[in-house]
Amino acid sequence: MLGSMSDPVPALARSLPKVELHCHLEGSARPATIVELAKKNGVALPVDDPTELFHFDDLNSFLAVYGIICQSLVTADDFRRITYEALEDAVADRVRYREMFFSPSFAMAYGVALETVWDGIRAGLAEAHADLDVRCRMVLDVDKGGAPSAATDLVAFAAQQDRDLIVGIGGDSTERGVDHSTFLPAYELAARQGLRRTMHAGEDGPAENIAISLDVLGCERIDHGVRLIDDPELMARVAEARIPLTVCPLSNVLIARMIDDVAEHPFARQREAGVLVTVNSDDPGMTGTTISDDYEHVARAFSYDLDTMEQLALDGIEACWAPDDEKAALRTRFLAEFDAGRADADMAVRGMS
Ligand code: ADE
Ligand code: ZN
Repeated sequence: MLGSMSDPVPALARSLPKVELHCHLEGSARPATIVELAKKNGVALPVDDPTELFHFDDLNSFLAVYGIICQSLVTADDFRRITYEALEDAVADRVRYREMFFSPSFAMAYGVALETVWDGIRAGLAEAHADLDVRCRMVLDVDKGGAPSAATDLVAFAAQQDRDLIVGIGGDSTERGVDHSTFLPAYELAARQGLRRTMHAGEDGPAENIAISLDVLGCERIDHGVRLIDDPELMARVAEARIPLTVCPLSNVLIARMIDDVAEHPFARQREAGVLVTVNSDDPGMTGTTISDDYEHVARAFSYDLDTMEQLALDGIEACWAPDDEKAALRTRFLAEFDAGRADADMAVRGMS
């Protein structure tokens, strides 16, 4: 879907340099890779083509499919491969910096050791850093559908790893009916160990889950945060404190299905209220969409101009957990790339006239 002549911004937004802060490793795996790995590992998928499974009624039905996909991931090399390929795909979308979730509980449920998962991811990161023009740190997501004690064990593992490889922890999976405060021991341990903290909240549950994540668990970012719009007082606090939301507009249409169209998303209203909202893809392998699609849809849905779309890309830098010098270098690079992109667009327009 390219922008029309009357509004070139949606198409230009696709080629902006980007930071991505909300993207799941397992949900980024290429369907063709899942098929190959399942065959190699002797795992029988219920269909020949996993994309046939990728039609969701709600978050919980999505998570059931996520579990099936994760059965195909067995060896360290499987995790190395999907990590590398996820970053190859990110580069194609001009992602220059990513903080990527991994959710080891899904593979561990099928008997894969946590160390196997992590050894593979580490190898994939090392290869990607050597070969590709993208920097990536991982965020270990605990499973909110599982026991809080299992979450604490995962955080203890994360705490032993290099902070340059695992920068923080989050919580994903189901939200409905989950008392988020039960994860306090895991989040306290993370804080003591200097791990950054975020949480999926307000995606498939009320604004109260956002409040608990911030006020009880001490989160520094909120993943999704759609329902923040329902609590203006909390929204004002989040805006004032510059607590970022990692918003995934197309995912909210295609996975949680709380809206039919990006134009209905509270993203623009949250931004107008001063909230630091960022644009992200969530599970590109499973939705068949990319972060460039999210940028394009946001630009079109809210009639944003190019300045605004560039500012959204810069807001990703503000919201990320890279060291300050790395953030400054990213900012310098983005500004130069914005100028180059505008010059190219001008040349194209002149060439057509
Ligand atoms: N795991 C992968 N994608 C997710 C989402 N959108 N919400 C909760 N858990 C997830
Ligand atoms: Zn997510």
